[in-house]
Amino acid sequence: MEDKPMDGHQSTRFDVVPHPAPTAADARAAMVANPGFGRVFTDHMVVINYTEGRGWHSARVEARKPFLIDPASAVLHYAQEIFEGLKAYRTPSGGAAMFRPEANARRFHNSAERMAMAPLPESLFLESVRQLVQVDRDWIPSADVGTLYLRPFMIASETFLGVKPSAEYMYMVIASSVGSYFKGGGDGVTVWVSQHDTRAASGGTGAAKCGGNYAASLRAQAEAVRNGCDQVVFLDAVERRRVEELGGMNVFFVFQDGSLLTPPLDGTILPGITRDSIIKLARDAGIAVREGQYTLDEWRADAASGKLQEVFACGTAAVITPIGRIRNPEGEFVAGAAGTAGGPVTQRLRKTLVDIQQGKAADPHGWVHTVF
Ligand code: PLP
Ligand code: COI
Repeated sequence: MEDKPMDGHQSTRFDVVPHPAPTAADARAAMVANPGFGRVFTDHMVVINYTEGRGWHSARVEARKPFLIDPASAVLHYAQEIFEGLKAYRTPSGGAAMFRPEANARRFHNSAERMAMAPLPESLFLESVRQLVQVDRDWIPSADVGTLYLRPFMIASETFLGVKPSAEYMYMVIASSVGSYFKGGGDGVTVWVSQHDTRAASGGTGAAKCGGNYAASLRAQAEAVRNGCDQVVFLDAVERRRVEELGGMNVFFVFQDGSLLTPPLDGTILPGITRDSIIKLARDAGIAVREGQYTLDEWRADAASGKLQEVFACGTAAVITPIGRIRNPEGEFVAGAAGTAGGPVTQRLRKTLVDIQQGKAADPHGWVHTVF
């Protein structure tokens, strides 16, 4: 392997060391047939190391296995950690494609900067996910079952207890055969309004995809589950009135006049790639989209009056999922006047998006990247 630094955009060489004892084909087929979400892992992983003064080096695809880190590794103490989530789709011809991976590469870069971590060159990010999809191609479910969910992440690996940006990082990519994120179907998901916990404040890390944001959301998410809900919706940290996003998804409102509204990218929510794609696809279809604030009180009143028809959550894992009910300690209401199973605009947008992702429809924005 070429062992020179890879900070620039020169071509990158990955050392590929195949798994010595990969999962047998029949066992793999059984795992991929009904995978659930996030429990079935492929045979390989990508690892790239960063050392201050040397840059990114030692890119490799190797057998997926546990690895050793020192108990004083910075990530274990000060939580310098970021991640991404994107999918590889089985195409009608039996190949594979990824959806907007360059947008994930950019966001990973931005997350690294926010967390004072060494940014991974975007070309290296793209090459890493491409390599893993190639090597683990047999783990991509058929389009009717699901997708291969790719999880790039980076940890601070310097052995040092002083509080400062780490001088060493490990970037890795793992992959998981997945079906849908939410169990069941029919009705939309039920969402719990977090009363006590907020997700992010101005100047914080809300727009970065760092593990700490998710750690801070888990108490509210656990409360949601205790109250029979699937997800938590967070309100703004200042007035506790404006809707921000769910624990792992952005949110859209569909009004009677056919227009869409989604909370703005003001630094406290994650700039979702699905969110961005929906805005563009809706505008392509002549639908008016506003990025603006919306309070829980407006939501309740507009759902009751019929002004608000449909509400949906969106994200890589969730795709587009109708929100059926909103619940808090005072009671619950149906999220939109069209009912708990969502409505026609949600369904149409979902089909438009998924058909592009699966290579079944034209790709007017050049979002689909063929892997093989
Ligand atoms: N918001 C949060 C907090 C998320 O975790 C995610 C999922 O990645 C999203 C929004 C949606 O982002 P994307 O559409 O890029 O997956
Ligand atoms: C994703 O959609 O990729 C996420 O990171 C969200 C999480 C709920 C799995």
